[in-house]
Amino acid sequence: MPRAIISPSVLASDFGQLTAECKRMIKGGAEWLHMDVMDGHFVPNITMGAPILSCVSKGVPGIFMDCHMMVAQPEKWVDDIADAGGSLYCFHYEATSDPLALIDQIHARKMKAGIAICPDTPSTVITDDIGEAADMLLVMTVHPGRGGQKFIEACVPKVSELRARFPHKDIEVDGGVGPKTIDVCANAGSNVIVAGTAIFGAPEPEKVIALLKSTVDT
Ligand code: DX5
Ligand code: ZN
Repeated sequence: MPRAIISPSVLASDFGQLTAECKRMIKGGAEWLHMDVMDGHFVPNITMGAPILSCVSKGVPGIFMDCHMMVAQPEKWVDDIADAGGSLYCFHYEATSDPLALIDQIHARKMKAGIAICPDTPSTVITDDIGEAADMLLVMTVHPGRGGQKFIEACVPKVSELRARFPHKDIEVDGGVGPKTIDVCANAGSNVIVAGTAIFGAPEPEKVIALLKSTVDT
């Protein structure tokens, strides 16, 4: 299994201090920062888009921005997110009719490509060719749209199924993940761990980051 990567979700941070919050997480041991882009269509909420990500990438040199695109037309934003300094562009399977073409479009802009599936979407939609073309597979463990929701354990078998078929790919879990739910995620084979509330809500986020990481790596 690939190594553990912790990707704190800035959705749970103080947006007024976004660059400082990202720096605080990197200092605390996070390799990636999870940027939740919501467009008010694919999900009801609106969060942030390319202009804000651009400020973050300029303010936090070297940052790896793991962009989770909860948007209705993911093809439309590839160039803007690449120009803004996005490192990984993760779109939703449910939002596109041609995942393979979109993966090519993302790679052409020198970003890693991720594909996400919602709790009600079976892992079998990630066919062997899609899974091989993508760099990362994201199994949502809550319904996308907001932070602080309860982890849906019924999604975990999808992680195991994908890990069995794609032993070398990054497999991310997102939603309700924290010290209480990391064991099942790690045992199922996820190695990229998103956590918002569990990290930003902790008095000592670096301890939570270290705990999540060591649970995956052992
Ligand atoms: C939900 C987002 C998640 C969310 C995770 O739509 O994709 O990234 O911020 O937050 P927690 O860890 O609080 O569930
Ligand atoms: Zn997310």
